[in-house]
Amino acid sequence: MPDNPLSEPKNTPLTRDQIREQWRSVALDWGRWEPYFASSSWPVTHRLMAALRLEPGLRVLDFGCGIGDPALQIAQAVAPDGQVTAVDLAPEMVEIASSRARALALENVTFRAAALEELDPTRGLFDAVVGRFSLMFLIDVAAGLKRIRDLVRPGGRVAFSVWAPMEVNPMFAIPREQIASVVDLPAVPDDAPGPLRLSRSGELAAALEAAGFTEVTVADVQMYNFARDPSEYFELVYAMAGTFRSTFDALDTGQQEQVRAGLQRTVAQYADSTGVRVPALARVGTGVCPGA
Ligand SMILES: C[S@@+](CC[C@H](N)C(=O)[O-])C[C@H]1O[C@@H](n2cnc3c(N)ncnc32)[C@H](O)[C@@H]1O
Repeated sequence: MPDNPLSEPKNTPLTRDQIREQWRSVALDWGRWEPYFASSSWPVTHRLMAALRLEPGLRVLDFGCGIGDPALQIAQAVAPDGQVTAVDLAPEMVEIASSRARALALENVTFRAAALEELDPTRGLFDAVVGRFSLMFLIDVAAGLKRIRDLVRPGGRVAFSVWAPMEVNPMFAIPREQIASVVDLPAVPDDAPGPLRLSRSGELAAALEAAGFTEVTVADVQMYNFARDPSEYFELVYAMAGTFRSTFDALDTGQQEQVRAGLQRTVAQYADSTGVRVPALARVGTGVCPGA
């Protein structure tokens, strides 16, 4: 999921190299927290896979696959004859994804360090394309979606997840509020690459329709981030969100203590005797490639 999902875009739009560096810097931590990501992201993965109508034999592209999701799950669904190609900007992410595939003895998934924009635009190469929390990081979303439309065969399906806006997303709002209580934070721009791009109502559907996809649907999907207690939740946020981490590290010790304590106090409202479950709201958008 994503930044990392919690980071805040800066006011100046990032270049693709900067986006790659951001993701490289958190890849190791994403690998270390893999079980937590798996536990939080399954509702979205399930919806994405259902939307793609997967069956054995299909050829699927997962772009922005991070440490391997949902490429690994899809590889299981299209086995034995189907094939998954998964790409990510950050080589360290791809390395972890490949290692997970080896541990699962999966031979029908190939991971490559590459940008979506660099893929050979061979028409109809894939039966389906998926992007879990990656579409919003493309520099030019419209151009990216057009490339995806070319890569999918006519009648093939696409499915993407994005996040719902900050005000309905405690996963994003809580860390931001705590940092904002000690330093001024720039406003989050809606249209620059970042986790909350395409989060406004109607934006994802409009982008899919503008790219020419048909039968477009968008649905909210409720998730939660689990930690064993508020203190571990802080560690999870720190590991997952590169921009939160760099902002937090730049604070003085007193401010850090205030942010840490405030975050732990706030997420305690979501705790029970088994752990903390902080709500996170995603959106899944689907479409069909025209021309079947
Ligand atoms: C939030 S993570 C999502 C990772 C994974 N899909 C998941 O859900 O756990 C976004 C990923 O998109 C990748 N990414 C961003 N821009 C990309 C691009 N233009 N081409 C390929 N990957 C990209 C990043 O490197 C990052 O690993």
